[in-house]
Order: sequence, then structure tokens, then C-alpha cells
Amino acid sequence: MCGIVGYIGHQEAYPILIKGLHRLEYRGYDSAGIALINPTGELNIYKTKGRVSDLEEFCTGKDISGTIGIAHTRWATHGEPNNANAHPHYSESENLALIHNGIIENYSVLKEQLVQKGYHFHSQTDTEVLIQLIEYIKTLNNVDLCTAVQLALGQVIGAYAIAVMEKGNPNQIIAARKSSPLVLGIGDNEFFIGSDASPIIEFTNKVIYLEDEEIAIIKRNEEPKIVTIGNVEKTHEIIQLELSLSQLEKEGYPHFMLKEIFEQPNRLRDCMRGRVDVTGNHIVLSGIIDYREKFLNAKRILILACGTSWHAGLIGEYLIEEICRIPVEVEYSSEFRYRNPIIYPGDIVIAISQSGETADTLAAIEQAKQQGAFVYGICNVVGSSIARNTHSGSYTHVGPEIGVASTKAFTAQLCVLAMLALCIARERKTIPETHILELLNELTRIPNKIERILQSDDSIQKLSNIFTYAHNFIYLGRGYNYPVALEGALKLKEISYIHAEGYPAAEMKHGPIALIDNEMPVVVVATDNDMYEKVISNIQEIKARNGRVIAIVSESDTVVKTIADYVIEVPTTADCFDPLLTTIPLQLLSYHIAVNKRRDVDMPRNLAKSVTVE
Ligand code: M6R
Repeated sequence: MCGIVGYIGHQEAYPILIKGLHRLEYRGYDSAGIALINPTGELNIYKTKGRVSDLEEFCTGKDISGTIGIAHTRWATHGEPNNANAHPHYSESENLALIHNGIIENYSVLKEQLVQKGYHFHSQTDTEVLIQLIEYIKTLNNVDLCTAVQLALGQVIGAYAIAVMEKGNPNQIIAARKSSPLVLGIGDNEFFIGSDASPIIEFTNKVIYLEDEEIAIIKRNEEPKIVTIGNVEKTHEIIQLELSLSQLEKEGYPHFMLKEIFEQPNRLRDCMRGRVDVTGNHIVLSGIIDYREKFLNAKRILILACGTSWHAGLIGEYLIEEICRIPVEVEYSSEFRYRNPIIYPGDIVIAISQSGETADTLAAIEQAKQQGAFVYGICNVVGSSIARNTHSGSYTHVGPEIGVASTKAFTAQLCVLAMLALCIARERKTIPETHILELLNELTRIPNKIERILQSDDSIQKLSNIFTYAHNFIYLGRGYNYPVALEGALKLKEISYIHAEGYPAAEMKHGPIALIDNEMPVVVVATDNDMYEKVISNIQEIKARNGRVIAIVSESDTVVKTIADYVIEVPTTADCFDPLLTTIPLQLLSYHIAVNKRRDVDMPRNLAKSVTVE
């Protein structure tokens, strides 16, 4: 939700921290702040509402010296985005500064106790309570900062990734995490902290991922020490990251989202690399093969996810039921975690998450594991919490997705689900081998077909001009394209702020049809598949009420082209892979409408890339 960056070493901290904040801005961007200890030991905090660029402006002319600092970019949970609520927060004496990602659930009780002890609060945040508590405990028990942090975190209920510094001590940062990610970068006599590796990778590819309830004591010119809240010392493997800096740059595109849309052909090739070999008629997903018996005997699959990943799950349901003949249920993680769900022995849970950090999905996984389920993760971010907390899984391997609206991660999730379904179908022999080979071959042709769709970008851009000022949109699709309609509507909502709803096309006449008039654009996914004739009837119903139809059709289409007001063509493919193609024009349409409306496409209002709080 929020972005955390820290530095201690031999370089000036400010430029490193500001650059890091820019890289982390996709995680939250309603306010930003920085704390630095200058060479005379003073602890300076500068923070402001707005973007990192506003912070830079605010810092102009101020003392930004120091080789140690922590910085934060915020996505508001407690308290509106304003200067006071921005991080870092000072303690009562202004001797300590803290940044925080997460939520302290029992903050109001703790706050009340601290107020009674004479502490004053300047913000509405839960974070300020934590730093006041740390200072209170430190003073009361006359302990060092690390011990005070350990004792304070022992009293806290909730999720946190934090970094703390102390006035007069330019040689130490204390960092800790629980249910919110935190990475420690190991440089040459210098150390970095990040919510993820993006602010670190420019300086070092050697990192340590902190585990829940672990604290890193990061001292200048010393090896970092990791202890638990209960003070048990831990050792950690240093991981070498394969992330490259160019993956974090726009590389000439005006927005990350457009770059990520256009990357899809190559990223899907990456996703299949080493897994699908058409010449050898091979498909290997090690996460499945290693647990072959479980998948062979699975009685039911539960798919848990949120947002766009949940849409991928719906497509996975159709696919797995069709070709593996295993019953599948798809559920929002946020609902699953608060029910008392029934898990049978032999059930498999598939958790899907781009970030691998979504709090609801993590909690749902825990719930499923406690009830004995085997959990398989489909994540993009390597080393993420979900990847580490599942029994097995497959990475989507599409590199960092920076645009807040998910695009390439979604198509890669579909690609992994397709490979997974083909693997299981082959193991269970639920469809003929010839059919598996046909599908396998077709899957490898998808990247080329997406390249063809991307060539229509100019005409989609022109089409977007016609609809920029629409107030509402309806998206319709059937079968495999029903979740595509949901995803198309979500994408438009997220980045253009136009109200949009997705429905299974046949549901329209059960209510939404009342909305159709000559001002209502209706995007209908009407490709040439099993549902084609039915969808044509739905389009007729819309046209009979003067609705304006934008249809996504197959290149071979002859009928819809004569009825719809506008068409966007996509190549034909197997029905089950249709979403991999039909999604692309909807991504582009949303993108161009949002650009026309001068929206901040990569950082839409109120959203954040990774939702690490409930
Ligand atoms: O990282 P996750 O895939 O778990 O995230 C789930 C949703 O928060 C995410 O898909 C969200 O809906 C995106 N903003 C969609 O574009």
C-alpha cells in the first residue's frame, strides 16, 4: 500500500531516497516524506501532501545532508492525505522518526493510554501511535532502540513494515515486518531498505527478505543482524535478484501501462519459456509435476483471489472444468477468509496474485492451510509473501508490473492457468492427447496473435475519442468472455473513473437492459466461438433500444460487423484462449479513454498497486 525506502552508507542519502520513492510511488502516492540525520546528528523530517515531486519541491533550500535516512510514499488508511498524516512521524520528544506500511489495529486503545500518560498527537494516523509507544517504552525501561521496538511490536495487533531512526545516532536503522513486505539490500559497505526491490536494484542485486515478526538491526560498517520480536537471532540466505533496471523504466512509452500492454507478446513468451515445448510436445510445470498425485486425485479446486486476479480465476474455472473435469469454485479472498468454509481432504486451493502481497489473499491462504488444504500459488513477484507461504506454485515471470492497472500480469495468469490445466488434463487423461497437442500448439501462437491486435492501436485510439465523454459503459460477454467483460469494465473504471459494469450478456435482459439508450456505449465481446449466435441475439436486443455497440469480433466475422456501430477485430483461437486475445483491445480502449480524459493512468486516484491492508 505504502512505499518504504531507507539508506545507510557512505553516499548522500537524499538522492537515493528520492529516486527510491519515485520507483515506489506506484504503491501509494497521496503524500510523501523523508527523514535524514545530518552530520551533526540532527534529525530532520520533511513531508507533504501530494506526489514525490511535491516533496522534492518542498525540500528545496532545506538541510538535506546526511548519509542515513528513511522515506515514505503513502496510501492513506487512517486519516486523510495531508501534511500532518504523511510519514515519517516524530515521537513526542522528536528524538525518533518512523515510517510504516500496514495497519495497527489496536491503535485507538494504545493511543488512549499514551494520551493519559501525557503524549500529544499531531496526526490521525495509527503510525504516530506506534512511534510514541516505542519512545514511551524506551524511556520507561531505559532500553536501547531495538529492544524498545521489540517490546512495542509485542503489544501491537496488525500489520507493519517499519523503519525507525534516532536523533544523535547516525549509525543505525531498525527495520521490522509483519504481513507487509520488507527487503534489505546489501551493498558495498552500505545498506538499503525497500518495500520491494525496485528502489534497491540500481545499487545492489543482493537482498534479504525479512520474515514475519523479524527485526533487522542495520548498523553502519557492520553486518546486519536479524532477530525476532522475541529476540531469537536468525540467519538468512542472501538472494541474488535477476531484476534489471530497464524493467523499471518506461523505455520511451508515455506510461508504464502502455509499455506493459505492448510487452505482452514477449512476456507471454517468457511465461511459457522452458515450460512449453511444441516440437517435443512437452508441457512442464514443475509445481504440478512435483505434486502429481495431489492433482491426479483432486476432488475439487478452490480459486482465491481479488480484483483482476479474481477475473483470471473465473476464466481458470471454465478452463479447468472443461478440460480437466475437476469441479472448481472461485471466491473473493476477502469473503473466503471471514466465512467458515468447508474444505474437504483432496481439495486444492489455487491462490492468484500479481503482487503476492494482497492481505486478503494471504489471510485466505492461511485459513485454507489451517483446514488442511494444499495451496498452489500463481504470483508474479518473485519471493513475495504468497509465493513463500504456499506449498507449491508457478511464477508468471512477466517482470515488474508498475502501472497500477494490471495488464500483462492478467494475461500471464491466464497463460499459467492454461498450462496448468493442460498439464493436469494430460495427467488425468481427461481429453484426448491429440486435443492437448492442438491446444498446446495454439497456446504458443498466442503471442504472435497479440502482436497483430496491437497493430490496431491507432484505430482503437481513434475510437476512444468518440467515447471519452460517456458517463457510463456496459461490457458484455458470454462463456470464456464473460470474465473478460468484467475485466474490461474494471480497467475502464480504475483509470478513467467512468462508471462501467460488466455482465454475462444473457443477464442483460434481467435488469441492465433498462439502462440502454442512445447514450449508452455497450462493449460486446462477440468473437466466433460456441456462444457466437447467442451473443448476436444480445447485440440485436441492444440495437433495438438504440444502444451504441462496440463489438470485439473475429477477423473472419461477417455478421456482427453489419449490426454493431464499431468493431475491433481479433484473430481466431481456441475458445478457451479467447480471453488472451479479447482482453487486449479492452486494455487499449481503457488506456486511450483515460489519456483523453487526462487521467493519471499509472497512478489513478485512490488506488495502490499492492493492497497489503484489509
Ligand atoms: O496483487 P494482486 O493480484 O493480488 O492484486 C489484486 C487486486 O488488488 C488487483 O488485481 C487490482 O484489482 C488491480 N488494480 C487491477 O487492475
